[in-house]
Amino acid sequence: MEGLLRSSILAASRNRRIEELVTNAPVSRDVVRRYVGGATTHAAVEATRELLVAGLTVTLDHLGEDTTDRAQADAVAAAYRELLTALQQAGLAERPAPLTSRAEVSVKLSAVGQALPGDGEKIALEHAREICAAAEAVGATVTLDMEDHTTTDSTLGILAELRADFPATAAVLQSYLRRTEGDCRDLATAGSRVRLCKGAYKEPASVAFQKREDVDLSYVRCMNILMAGEGYPMLATHDPRLVEIGIERARFHGKQAGKDFELQMLYGIRPNEQRRLAAEGHTVRVYLPYGAQWYGYLMRRLAERPANVLFFARSLVSKG
Ligand code: FDA
Repeated sequence: MEGLLRSSILAASRNRRIEELVTNAPVSRDVVRRYVGGATTHAAVEATRELLVAGLTVTLDHLGEDTTDRAQADAVAAAYRELLTALQQAGLAERPAPLTSRAEVSVKLSAVGQALPGDGEKIALEHAREICAAAEAVGATVTLDMEDHTTTDSTLGILAELRADFPATAAVLQSYLRRTEGDCRDLATAGSRVRLCKGAYKEPASVAFQKREDVDLSYVRCMNILMAGEGYPMLATHDPRLVEIGIERARFHGKQAGKDFELQMLYGIRPNEQRRLAAEGHTVRVYLPYGAQWYGYLMRRLAERPANVLFFARSLVSKG
């Protein structure tokens, strides 16, 4: 039943009609505000400031997927450059250590042109390079988000090119993919920042584990490889068991909290736990999405936890 609901929500996340309906409905502002840091650059900077003041670090994601033309890709890259400048002007883009900036950005290559026909990959690389250069200029870092499995090789290829000039650029690996243990081994090298998450897309059994426990077991194997390696692991999960195992594995492999690895969670999910872990001395980074195109992002969050659908539906009714 939960699986069915999840697939339906993911299907709805790609349906333009439903998108229009939900986007234009008098949706409770509170629901969107719970997961999204605002529609504008200014709002995103203010949300970042609040999180930094609370002792957290931040990675900002300009919402916008499925870029279908060059102009849109250019606009997304420009939005990131504007954001990075605004962070610097607000005094929020410091880099206390080579691998950790207090506020950094997360970029989806599809948003900067990767899926455009013809030279999409080249366009995405150029835009990602511009964003990395803008980040470097203000002391911030960049993480390349990982999307569905058809893009994994392309994204890792672009990452390798970017790292030649911007070595702190981070990769994301998804434990639901069968290939990921191998990718972890390849990327667990000195200076290499790797975010490990479970994975948010609907993937076929030929490439991805389907059962929750298999995804979780893979996560543990992957995090063990990353913690044993020389890189900088970034454990992105809200799963309390995995966070606990991750901290234990870090200790076992001699990685120091607040210095050699970090924990990451999404904005609005387990906020008290984010603060508790930060107070314990961990670097906790909050993934803060912002921008007008919040629909696809919000639907994926709902699909992760069908119980949230009730919360969402209730607020539609109560504020409708
Ligand atoms: P899981 O979904 O099993 O949840 C564990 C527990 O966390 C739940 O029982 C609940 O308590 C809480 N929880 C989880 N989701 C919740 C929600 N929506 N609302 C309320 N509570 C919730 N994916 C991807 O494919 N590519 C990427 O680049 C990224 N990037 C990324 C960055 C960061 C910082 C995070 C935290 C996650 C991602 N993801 C991602 C998403 C990731 O793949 C995954 O879909 C979600 O993190 C949910 O998985 P969990 O590991 O949290 O476990």
